[in-house]
Amino acid sequence: MTDRYAVIGNPVEHSRSPQIHAAFARETGEDIEYARLLAPLDGFRSTVDAFRADRGRGLNVTVPFKAQAYRLATVHSERARAAEAVNTLRFDAGGTYGDNTDGTGLVRDIRDNLGFAIAGRRVLLLGAGGAARGVIAPLLAESPSSLTIANRTLDRARSLERHFGQRVRASAYEALSGTRFDIVVNATSASLAGTLPPLPAGVFAPDSLGYDMMYGKGLTPFLERARDEGAARVADGLGMLVEQAAESFFIWRGVRPKTAAVLAALRAQ
Ligand code: ATR
Repeated sequence: MTDRYAVIGNPVEHSRSPQIHAAFARETGEDIEYARLLAPLDGFRSTVDAFRADRGRGLNVTVPFKAQAYRLATVHSERARAAEAVNTLRFDAGGTYGDNTDGTGLVRDIRDNLGFAIAGRRVLLLGAGGAARGVIAPLLAESPSSLTIANRTLDRARSLERHFGQRVRASAYEALSGTRFDIVVNATSASLAGTLPPLPAGVFAPDSLGYDMMYGKGLTPFLERARDEGAARVADGLGMLVEQAAESFFIWRGVRPKTAAVLAALRAQ
């Protein structure tokens, strides 16, 4: 009997995860099914239970259920605990394992795919919501020289500063003026609305990377801004999507798929 996996969310119809995992399955020879699972906004747990009862072995979790998935899991990885959010569930005989592969996906894309070292670099993270929180611990694990979090609502950035301790510094956007960074990651949802965070001019160091965790057709407003401001490199979040998927696949199957060809195929579409 083929093991079943899915991405659960609402909405979920535009998810690229089924295509990515189908490619991983072909490449590794793993016999799995992977589908999209739409859960009603008030029916996350019952949808998960029904899936599990019908050969479901694991789920990727997307908007808006990552915090609920965290509460549903009975065993958490350290990075899921740091994020207080789960994007990968694995159903084991003894319970439900919850992990978060988003931050690892971001780090692998920046470090390995883009070849941009994080160690020793000044990193600026924009946003203080769930997306930002999920990537802080994996970014810190790379030993950047500093990690600054800027948010429109400064209190939310301050609360992350309190949670993650001295290695993280909260800042208002306007206070960034005159400070340069080597890596600027946009973890706000501004790109969804076609806008960009209120970043003062001059934060991109000459050899810097501008990275938007969102992806879509063409450059996001943030990436256009990064390019205009002289960032040496700009990248959207498609590579992060593929890398976090590969890490989920590894958690489920114990096999690490190769990502380069899958990412190239998605880019070509
Ligand atoms: P997610 O889970 O995607 O992070 P979220 O928790 O709603 O979603 O957080 C959205 C983030 O994007 C927040 O940091 C938000 O800033 P506020 O905390 O000040 O609301 C940020 N954000 C959304 N639109 C923005 C915009 N136009 N400019 C700047 N920040 C924006």
